[in-house]
Amino acid sequence: MTTIHLGKTYWILETQQTAYAFGLTSRGTLTHAYWGKRLPNLEDYPSPPEAAPYESWSGPEHLTPEEYPAYAGAKYTEPCLKTTFSDGVRDTVLRFVGAEQRIGEPSPLCITLRDAYYPLQVALYYRVHERYDLIERWAEITNLGDAPVLLERAWSALWHLPWGDNYRLSHLSGQWFKEWRLCREFLRPGVKVKESRRLTTGHTANPWFAVDRGAADECQGEVWFGVLAWSGNWKMVAEVTEYGATRIGLGVNDWDFAWRLAPGESFLTPSSLAGYTQEGFGAASRLLHDYARKHLPHGNRLHPVLYNSWEAVFFDVNEASQIALAERAARMGVELFVMDDGWFHRRNKDNAGLGDWWPDERKFPNGLKPLIERINALGMDFGLWIEPEMVNPDSDLYRAHPDWVIHFPTRQRTQMRSQLILNLARSDVQDYLIEKLDALLSEHNIAFIKWDMNRNVSEPGWPDAPGDPRELWVRYVHGVYRVWETLAKRHPHVLWQGCSGGGGRVDFGMLRLVDQFWVSDNTEATARLEIQEGFSQLMPAITMESQVTEMGKPLMPLPFRFHVSMMGVLGVSVDLMKWSEEELRLGAEMIALYKEIRPIVQLGDQYRLLPAQGSPFAAVQYVSKDKTESVLFVFRTHAPEPTYVPPISLRGLDPHMRYRIEGFSETRSGEAWMNLGLRFDLKNGESTVRRITSIASSNSSAHGAKSN
Ligand code: GLA
Repeated sequence: MTTIHLGKTYWILETQQTAYAFGLTSRGTLTHAYWGKRLPNLEDYPSPPEAAPYESWSGPEHLTPEEYPAYAGAKYTEPCLKTTFSDGVRDTVLRFVGAEQRIGEPSPLCITLRDAYYPLQVALYYRVHERYDLIERWAEITNLGDAPVLLERAWSALWHLPWGDNYRLSHLSGQWFKEWRLCREFLRPGVKVKESRRLTTGHTANPWFAVDRGAADECQGEVWFGVLAWSGNWKMVAEVTEYGATRIGLGVNDWDFAWRLAPGESFLTPSSLAGYTQEGFGAASRLLHDYARKHLPHGNRLHPVLYNSWEAVFFDVNEASQIALAERAARMGVELFVMDDGWFHRRNKDNAGLGDWWPDERKFPNGLKPLIERINALGMDFGLWIEPEMVNPDSDLYRAHPDWVIHFPTRQRTQMRSQLILNLARSDVQDYLIEKLDALLSEHNIAFIKWDMNRNVSEPGWPDAPGDPRELWVRYVHGVYRVWETLAKRHPHVLWQGCSGGGGRVDFGMLRLVDQFWVSDNTEATARLEIQEGFSQLMPAITMESQVTEMGKPLMPLPFRFHVSMMGVLGVSVDLMKWSEEELRLGAEMIALYKEIRPIVQLGDQYRLLPAQGSPFAAVQYVSKDKTESVLFVFRTHAPEPTYVPPISLRGLDPHMRYRIEGFSETRSGEAWMNLGLRFDLKNGESTVRRITSIASSNSSAHGAKSN
């Protein structure tokens, strides 16, 4: 099926369910025309709107929904591009030059624009992800002249919503330990800005949006949604103009940003992906989940059950104690043993050692090999924590290279968690990290790396920067990508976990590097239900590492904690030496159950049946792609008596197949189970996991009925 319909002045991009169209107006302006449901015929799509001026106050260029507006002329809305030419002119007049479909699969459409006077070229790329109903956009700005050009804003895309000004924006807000709170608010004339100025994606917001007209819910309604695939400072601006137009712009943050585009050089923006559905917020998430899963470094390989030492012993790791824990973890069925912080040179607490990536001589007198060998002999893989971007002033690395950190020479170097940030914009810093970490990975049998990043930026100086020092914001991220990608290429078997003090760097830019994320440092099980729900707006369960810990007062019952973590990639991080035989037995039982349902959770479709945020209940269902199997999780956190768990209608089943649900004697059609509303009698702190099996494939025994 042709997904890009090429015209001379009009282009239509079609996915399975949706379409996106734009073209040239009679004035030659590249203008948005349509984004919504796919229409039966190509002739059905509207022409780009021709704007008439509104008296002397708003000219046509202000009123035209341009695909990629540059700041020029009498335009007052948010532009995608803002430049200063070498002669001081700050007005960029983009004219259409040509369109071509580049070779490659799926082939991107490239629209070329050029400034009317200066040799500045803007290439707009469009790629259609047909199966996921997503359009991907990015831009490349090239200086074809012989004088430098200063870029002050270079966004990835502006997404225009159908004409109207009564849209509701869903976005994510939070803070460390409280990430992923879903907010919904109506957009009003003016701009609503979400951004990061922290060098990374950040805990406080995420470059994800969903927009509806106020009536969509999890199951139905029109939703336009999107993300920015970028792991540094970003900006998302939702603007409602005074003329009733609504649009969302996304890109690298222009706050404190500048890029000196030397003659012959190009600036490539990150991608923005956006989609449309008529089936509500749940379907929007599932489309992103499918896309994300397809682009994980290790594809659809199931992720292992892991043990992590952090919440168990913090910095107090050594060979003997880790082996003792590993023996118990192996007995429970853990597949991957991860040693977290504390293992490297002089690392006893958080004030020393970062940067010196070799085993601490006191804790590991024989290096890491004996520990890894023992773990492998127990049948588990070995994983290790690192925080490559950081350095403690108390480290050999800092003593040798104090100039390698981000800093201004005349200002203090603000420490957070006693650490400073290495300037990964510098190629010598990148090369050093590649060499050291490559050696670590080459010399040890390491199957998994947890890459952490535990502070935000301060004093963002780059003395001796070859270009504009404000390029730091982008070049740092390119540096992180380069180090990570180089290591990943050299060690292709390694699974990577992305972490930044929990969920501080979760974005679609990371997907090319990481297989799974640490979603939050908050592992208290009821808080976690809400956090996981926010994360699921954009990321699939296979990327969501979730660990059973002993955080929380009162501590939720062990089965409850396991059930919460079984909704992603299951992990355990408790001091197993303190667990009773009974707890170890229960842990083993839970892990065995998880292994059975893991393909459905990690590779299936996710349905948020009862939203957790702000509610004492939660219900989440996963359905295998072929709809023959499903699993339902139901939780009750705390609610005064008498309170009953609301009836739960299943989703995603095949209406015509017949299904059996654990704990229910009847066999019914999917249609029936999706309409009848299941009742569960749960008390505070109780949870249940129910397997749902289609009759044809129903040969499994009953598991995991009510957890207490
Ligand atoms: C961060 C991570 C934790 C743990 C610690 C180690 O806070 O989010 O999971 O790895 O660092 O210092």
